[in-house]
Amino acid sequence: MCGIVGYVGPQTPSARPVDVVVEGLRRLEYRGYDSAGVALVSPDLDHVTAAKKSGKLVNLVDELEAHPLAASTAAIGHTRWATHGAPNDVNAHPHLSEDGRLALIHNGIVENFALLKEELLAAGVTFLSETDTEVAAHLLARAHDATGDLTEAMRQVAQRLDGTFTLLAVHADSPGTVVGARHDSPLVVGLGDGENFLGSDVAAFIAHTKEALELGQDQIATITPHEVTVMDFDGNPVEPKRFTVDWDAAAAEKGGFGSFMDKEIHDQPQAVGDTLLGRTDLQGDLVLDDLRIDEAVLRTVDKIVVIACGTAAYAGHVAKYAIEHWCRIPVEVELAHEFRYRDPVVNEKTLVVAITQSGETMDTLMAVRHAREQGAKVISIVNTHGSTIPRESDAVLYTHAGPEIAVASTKAFLSQITAAYLLGLYLAQLRGNKFPDEIAEIYEALRAMPAKIQEVIDRGGRVREIARWMADTSSVLFLGRHVGFPVAMEGALKLKELAYIHAEGFAAGELKHGPIALIEPGQPVFVVVPSPRGRDSLHSKVISNIQEIRARGARTLVIAEDGDDAVLPFADEVFWVPQCPTLLSPLLTVVPLQIFACELATARGLDVDQPRNLAKSVTVE
Ligand code: F6R
Repeated sequence: MCGIVGYVGPQTPSARPVDVVVEGLRRLEYRGYDSAGVALVSPDLDHVTAAKKSGKLVNLVDELEAHPLAASTAAIGHTRWATHGAPNDVNAHPHLSEDGRLALIHNGIVENFALLKEELLAAGVTFLSETDTEVAAHLLARAHDATGDLTEAMRQVAQRLDGTFTLLAVHADSPGTVVGARHDSPLVVGLGDGENFLGSDVAAFIAHTKEALELGQDQIATITPHEVTVMDFDGNPVEPKRFTVDWDAAAAEKGGFGSFMDKEIHDQPQAVGDTLLGRTDLQGDLVLDDLRIDEAVLRTVDKIVVIACGTAAYAGHVAKYAIEHWCRIPVEVELAHEFRYRDPVVNEKTLVVAITQSGETMDTLMAVRHAREQGAKVISIVNTHGSTIPRESDAVLYTHAGPEIAVASTKAFLSQITAAYLLGLYLAQLRGNKFPDEIAEIYEALRAMPAKIQEVIDRGGRVREIARWMADTSSVLFLGRHVGFPVAMEGALKLKELAYIHAEGFAAGELKHGPIALIEPGQPVFVVVPSPRGRDSLHSKVISNIQEIRARGARTLVIAEDGDDAVLPFADEVFWVPQCPTLLSPLLTVVPLQIFACELATARGLDVDQPRNLAKSVTVE
């Protein structure tokens, strides 16, 4: 939700600050693509120079080529996901002070902007945009006029703003400095040699350095080419935590694929394999070494609540089946944005599991805070190091999916499910619900999953063909039962967000309670069929569901396990997946649905990496 980059360093013919910032924006564009802009400062000029354009980053790049900006020594850049004010050129960031000497960019929402705007209007300030951000630019300029110090001015302004914000600013008086402030929105520092960086996440500077500093809440970072200083909003110096990024720039490139999404679908065997790596000790017991909650506490937990949003919540639904089965602890799954508003029953005996790829989703962060206030312990399952939610959790289990750039989640989903399985097995082991050899057996089955996921990807040709052939379809339904139900929901979400097609996922058993009225001749319906080797009655119930919709004219697109010939008489098309234990099957059955959505949207000429109206990291509630 808005990408932010700041850079200070030398201007050389081969590396201009503006290029560094535009390159950073390219890597952050998945966070928002309603508009993009940059502002530069130079020792030779007494004002800031800036360019901004609505639409995707390419529009800004064209503008900068047509009208190059002056040489600079510091630069800030922004890619916007619009909240206040339409996505046009005027509302694009940066926002400049009236005298043109200061520029500011913002991620988040200034909730008290109306009040502050009134105050500034009364003082004679002229506003150009409809954004909440512009108040911060004018306030900062006034504070700078009063103090002559950009860091101090930022500190004063940060204390006046309500809501969520990351702010970056440059001023013509300090051409080698960028100042950033963060409150409930992400910001990390990249450490270079004679140059330094600020970014919404490490992708902003990964092409230049893997060394980074994690900033905490309510902190201000001031970067110059040779120095980084951090203080809190009260002005006390802070020693930030240093970390090294464990992936490189190549991981954030398309690597020959047509889209990031297609690449990330192909990354899935590795993402799952890496998430499983190093989780057992010499005795073969599971050890989740970053799980810093006292084992005695975990033994007394009497309820687990999973909180997450969107695809991550569907990973939570899959986890519920596995954790309840293995641990015999009741598991509730709740959308994070609903959680705290319904006065949930959570206490010291509740374990809350927050699942999030970005680690920044505001709805999930707020739910984490609420749960901890009620005394619950929180374990987060997170993909992004240095993000906010792991910092605010009692423990963290990192997924190792690598950077997920496409807005629609794929490899993060599979690694979230994998991490949740690990957590379930660990709790079962700890609480003595499973014998060690049973745990070892399930763990072995999990270790076999990356190769099976690869097999599903390799078999993807037919589903791609069908997707292209269905490019003009206006509605697709998805049915599943047991762990196939969240897979059906995820299949529908992927199609909605990528192809803008009406799609709905149902529990197959729910059909007869209403949705079957939607079935008319030719209606395409994906059905995720459970293994016939699992619960016999479950398999035969789903076969009956296929028969019911087929009898009403539906076109049945069936996902079934190798050898399940019982589906053949009722399937217009079968997409086969390798055999595996039922609880692990979502890691396979969702893959044809991801491929289907990606291919169909591509066939419709849509940008699958950056679907309309969406942003990767939703940092507003
Ligand atoms: C859908 C998708 C979203 C995210 C959701 C949570 O493809 O990506 O539904 O899963 O916004 O995001 P994280 O996992 O970053 O908390």
